[in-house]
Amino acid sequence: MPYQETILKELYHSFESHNLSDGLQVNLKGWVRTNRNNGSIGFIELSDGTTFLNVQLVYSKDQVDDFDSYSHYLTGSSLSVNGEVKLTPNMKQPFEIHVHHIELLGGVSDDYPLQKKRHTFEFLRDIAYLRPRTNTFYALARVRSKLSYAMHKWFNDNDFYYIHTPIITGIDSEGAGQVFDVNAKKEDGKPFFDKPVHLTVSGQLHVEPFALALRNVYTFGPTFRAENSNTPRHASEFWMVEPEMAFCDIHKALKIVENLLKYCINDLLKNAKDELNFFNAFVDKNLLERLHKIVDSSWEVIPYTKAVEILEDAKNKGHHFDNENIFWGMDLQSEHERYITEQVVKGPTWIIDYPKEAKAFYMKQNPDGKTVAAYDLLVPEIGELIGGSQREDDYEKLRQRMEECHLLKDDSALWYLNTRRFGGCVHSGFGIGFDRFLMLLTGLNNIRDVQLYPRTANQVKY
Ligand code: 4AD
Ligand code: MG
Repeated sequence: MPYQETILKELYHSFESHNLSDGLQVNLKGWVRTNRNNGSIGFIELSDGTTFLNVQLVYSKDQVDDFDSYSHYLTGSSLSVNGEVKLTPNMKQPFEIHVHHIELLGGVSDDYPLQKKRHTFEFLRDIAYLRPRTNTFYALARVRSKLSYAMHKWFNDNDFYYIHTPIITGIDSEGAGQVFDVNAKKEDGKPFFDKPVHLTVSGQLHVEPFALALRNVYTFGPTFRAENSNTPRHASEFWMVEPEMAFCDIHKALKIVENLLKYCINDLLKNAKDELNFFNAFVDKNLLERLHKIVDSSWEVIPYTKAVEILEDAKNKGHHFDNENIFWGMDLQSEHERYITEQVVKGPTWIIDYPKEAKAFYMKQNPDGKTVAAYDLLVPEIGELIGGSQREDDYEKLRQRMEECHLLKDDSALWYLNTRRFGGCVHSGFGIGFDRFLMLLTGLNNIRDVQLYPRTANQVKY
């Protein structure tokens, strides 16, 4: 009987729908996770990439042609296996494969750095190209992909258009000056572009004009910041999801964020169940409880002014902050944000209406003349997950603010100001730190462990 070439996902799927027959002859291809034997019978855990679950291959001395070779296949080897399905109703795994023949597709040399024992995350970062072979990064890579898909799906189902914004740009949208310059030289030695250009820090300014025509849009791509801050939450290259909505004020925007985030978390609880269970068991015991709490609660909204009062009060009652200079107008530091979301609210928290000097030039000025209609979402364990605002739609106010921020020295940002003269309207948007969202979903507490090839200051090994 020929061996039917198949994948693990299909075998598990057939099993769940009671269609997997005992004795089915299959061919599977995959990689060895572990291999052990007692001299007469051996067991290989095989992973094939199509599901989070592995399968156990059983090879016994009296049934296979080359027991000795099989017993020497090392962790990481790639195999093509012919064998038959054996249902195992009394065991932890629902079925296993009894081996008839194994072909070694790719062997592993002795210096393969991954062994059966648990490795530290630091060690694994140093071999980023092999990390997907470990349970944690295997799960992470899958969740990363599934989260991207869930987001695209929500946007598509809610009439948002996906807009591709440029990576190379001449405008620093956040005005923080932490940009990576990119200007190559032409053959004649002159600069390639005729003005200073850098890698984008945000696609927002380029996506806004599309909201003024397609109404609801988003960009989702890599962004770059030359922040020399060595923290577990900052990377030099990270992915950001930036929706922008026309005819939408701050109040509508908060609801949109909540819908989107809750949808994504629920989607993963359902479609990445095995992976999230794994993270809950091995990385963060409170993960699932925390995620359920986020989707089941309504999120607190605290105006910035009130947040500063809460922090002053905490300080007066003896709480120690490293940054203890607390005053109205300050930029909230990560420890302040985490105090509010973890100790005070104990759940997702919006901080809104920040002082205008603490925020970017494009934010809508409130009638008080001091604050802007900004909204940051803080979540336990992460701090700031999302930053957004209603946008300044008043041409004169925006012009003044851009002047103050020295953005009108040349005409490189004039086009953005012009959008307020050419059919502007009330609009809002926000940016989700995609990698931070993954930290929230996996319990991994260092951004270097949710990015596939992390880039931070002095770190570009791969
Ligand atoms: O708050 P930020 O700087 O906002 C913007 O860039 C706006 N243009 C977004 C918008 O309104 N369209 O960044 C948004 C989010 C942050 O809340 C954070 O989650 C993430 O991006 N982020 C970083 N993630 C990893 N490493 C860094 N260095 C990050 N800087 C910001
Ligand atoms: Mg921010």
